[in-house]
Amino acid sequence: MRLRQLLSVILLALWTICGAVPALPQGANMATEQGKIQAVVFDAYGTLFNPYTAQPQAEKLFPGKGTELTRLWRSKQLEYTWLRSLMQRYEDFWEVTRDALVFSCQSLKLECSEQAIQGLLQTYLDIEAYPEVEQALRELKGRRLAILSNGTPGMLQAAIESTDLEGVFAQVISVDAAKTYKTDPRVYQLAPDKLGVAKSAIAFVSSNYWDAAGAKAFGFWTCWVNRSGAPPEVLGVKPDAVVKSLAELQDVLPR
Ligand code: LAC
Repeated sequence: MRLRQLLSVILLALWTICGAVPALPQGANMATEQGKIQAVVFDAYGTLFNPYTAQPQAEKLFPGKGTELTRLWRSKQLEYTWLRSLMQRYEDFWEVTRDALVFSCQSLKLECSEQAIQGLLQTYLDIEAYPEVEQALRELKGRRLAILSNGTPGMLQAAIESTDLEGVFAQVISVDAAKTYKTDPRVYQLAPDKLGVAKSAIAFVSSNYWDAAGAKAFGFWTCWVNRSGAPPEVLGVKPDAVVKSLAELQDVLPR
């Protein structure tokens, strides 16, 4: 009798202990240690790829207006992503980029033929990387690298091919999967979801301060790449690190 009682007590204790241990969450190998970075996620346009690649072509088409056109185009492109997100009227980044170009031509009173528009849009597919990108990414060898961008999957694939960066990224994540744009937290959530890494273990790198701010607000460790010496936006959120180019990234990333 005593033995049976003892066994019951042991069984009850085991059941209680096992029942009290919560089931391991999905992706139990997720980082639990705050500050341990398991993946480095990059913004694409402005950070890896130069959205002003079109400038020489724009200058040829519209002498004296190339810089103004490409600047307004980029600024409208981003503005349209924010407006469409707020209106909940998502169109993909290729469409938004085209719409922004059409508006910019009209605004500057430039006669943009369909051929000119196609030619300028094509520069997003034949885009250039910033000079230090390839070497900087090579120095991060051993880290898991990814892209999280407003670009469509097709645009990002073309950019990777055009800059010879095939095979560098473990994941190329497009906002298209969330049908909204940065800085919507649902976009940043795509990175932990697709990488299977906790957000506290992701370093996010962007040259767009507003994007770095969105990523920081979401919960990533964040680095702002300030190539042009721009003043920080006043958004109430500060990145964890600031570098002048991606070449410095290796030095500031938490180990
Ligand atoms: C991107 C925008 C910020 O690549 O250019 O997501």
